[in-house]
Order: sequence, then structure tokens, then C-alpha cells
Amino acid sequence: MEKASFSSLPALSLLLLLLALALGGGDARPPQPRLVRGVRHMAFDEGYKQIFGDGNLALLQDGRRIHLSLDESTGAGFASQDLFLHGFFSAAIKLPSYYAAGVVVAFYLSNGDTYEKTHDELDFEFLGNVRGREWRVQTNVYGNGSTAAGREERYDLPFDPTDAFHHYSILWTRHRIIFYVDETPIREVVRTAAMGAAFPSKPMSVYATIWDGSAWATLGGRYRVNYKYAPFVAEFADLVLHGCAVDSVERSPSPCGDAAGYEEADAAAAVSAPQRAAMAAFRRGHMSYSYCHDRRRYPVALSECALPVAGAADTLSRLFGPDGMKHDGRRRRPHRARDASS
Ligand SMILES: *[C@@H]1O[C@H](CO)[C@@H](O)[C@H](O)[C@H]1NC(C)=O
Repeated sequence: MEKASFSSLPALSLLLLLLALALGGGDARPPQPRLVRGVRHMAFDEGYKQIFGDGNLALLQDGRRIHLSLDESTGAGFASQDLFLHGFFSAAIKLPSYYAAGVVVAFYLSNGDTYEKTHDELDFEFLGNVRGREWRVQTNVYGNGSTAAGREERYDLPFDPTDAFHHYSILWTRHRIIFYVDETPIREVVRTAAMGAAFPSKPMSVYATIWDGSAWATLGGRYRVNYKYAPFVAEFADLVLHGCAVDSVERSPSPCGDAAGYEEADAAAAVSAPQRAAMAAFRRGHMSYSYCHDRRRYPVALSECALPVAGAADTLSRLFGPDGMKHDGRRRRPHRARDASS
């Protein structure tokens, strides 16, 4: 008997292993942006390093999945080993579920460590949720220390970001910045002369962090982190660092002509007509705040807001109030009631 159960043990563990692989590898992911389909996802050690959080960063699946957690002692974060001047940067992220008010998860590019007063930054920030409500997602752009001029946009995601992994990506070239959610571009910042140095132009590192943003994150700080629900775990996978790495000592671009060619060619391709239509639809349906519509902060909108792509000059502006927030007046209009009753 004993012998039999021993010999079946390897078979059983093999079965369990296969089952675990099937379940673990079976996370269906939504498609990535078209321009990086087929690009290899890297393991953590191939391009990243931990920057804080001690044991609150855990590597799973040979470093192809990373858990960052926030508890009462600390948050956690990692950063790219290299600085990059332009490129495509992406991670699949699954946010902490249930109750995560005040919890901030960020995936961003910055050079704040290198250029204290004139730093550049490109952000995806997830600003917590209140139980039962959606996570709020924000993108932002800073250039040359222009932190007085925030360029925030916020969105309600058309899915539950705690339920499954979704890809969040940032394309940054000499001429434009595009933020993507899965395969859909959601924001494009075109470099204009008037923007000047507010368009990020110095090498940046890529970061992913989770931290306590009680003071401001969720509805201006009204909902603080409640550690009764800790640890809050954000999961990262499908890491892509596809850019022009720069020597972090000399801060000069290494020879990466191919990458540069790739980025420019694909930047052009990235804004095909169907992609542009998808972006417009996303912004019409899901953007809940834009600095371009915020007349309280910017009595005169920043120059780039006049571009059709920013959404101020087109029909989108009707949907927003003077505080830059999308007003929900449409819901109370009679045609809505008619829709409901038909
Ligand atoms: C960036 O900011 C610094 C400090 O404010 C300023 O001296 C510099 O001219 C700016 N760079 C550009 C390209 O505008």
C-alpha cells in the first residue's frame, strides 16, 4: 500500500503541476497594441530592479509575474535598469480588488532622480476605489519640471481592472506620446513648438509602484487607506521595454539606430484611421476629466488643447463643465428616458 502511494506521488504532483500551469498560463489577456504584438515579454531581472519595499515585491513564474503589495509597513516598487530616450513601454496590470481607497498604483516614466528641478514624467496612475465603485485612472505629462502645469486626464475604464490583467502602454517618440489601454490608444500628445520643453525630451526610467496616497488619491483624500483590507496586491506581467537605452553615466544615447527607425515608423502606423476612431470613441465615452476643459485652473487653455486630438476643439467640449469634469446632464435628458422605455 505504502509503496503504491509513493509511486503515485510523482504522477499526482505532475498532474497538479500541469493543472497549475493550465490555470496560471490560462489568464486570457486582451490584445496588446498592434505595434508590439509579437514583441517578447521580458523577465523581471532582464530589465528591472527593485527600488523599495523589501519583501513586498515578489517574483512569480520565473520573474514573469511580479506582485507589489502595500501593507502597514511599506509599499513597493521597481524601476528599469536603464534610462531610455524614446520607446514603447508596457505592462499588464491587475489591480487590488474589493476595497482599495487611497491606494495608488502607478506605471510611469520619470527622470526625477536625475533632474531634480527639470524632470520629465509620463504617468499612468490608478487612484484607488471605494468599495463597489470603479478604480479611477489618470494619465499625466510633465516636461522640464513643469509641475505647476499639470496635464491630467481621467477615465472610467470600460472594464473592471481588478478582474483580469489589462495592458497599459506608453509610446514616446520625438514627435508624439500615445497612451494605450490594451490595443486602444486613449490619448495622444503631439509635440508642438508652443509646448516647448513641456514635451518630455530627456532620458527617463520606467517605474511601477504601489503606495499609500491617503492624503489625496481617492476623491481628494476623503477616503483613506483602510489597512483592515491589507495587503493590497497589484500584479504585473507582460513587461515590455522596447526603447533606446541610454548610458546612465554619460547620459548620451547609445547607438540604437534600428530602435529609432522602428519607433518613428510605428508611430506613424499607430495612428491609423481605425485607431483614431477607437481613440475618439474611448475619449467620448470614458474620459471623465481633462485639463483642457478645466477653465478654473486654466482660464485660457494650454496651447496644445486647440489641437483636435486633445478634444477641446471638437464636439467633446460640450460634454464637459468649466471644472473640466464631464457633466452627467445627459442622463437626465428626456431622450434617455425614451431609450429606456423603448
Ligand atoms: C528647462 O527649465 C530650466 C529651469 O527652469 C530652464 O533654465 C531651461 O531653459 C528649460 N529648458 C528648455 C529647453 O526650455
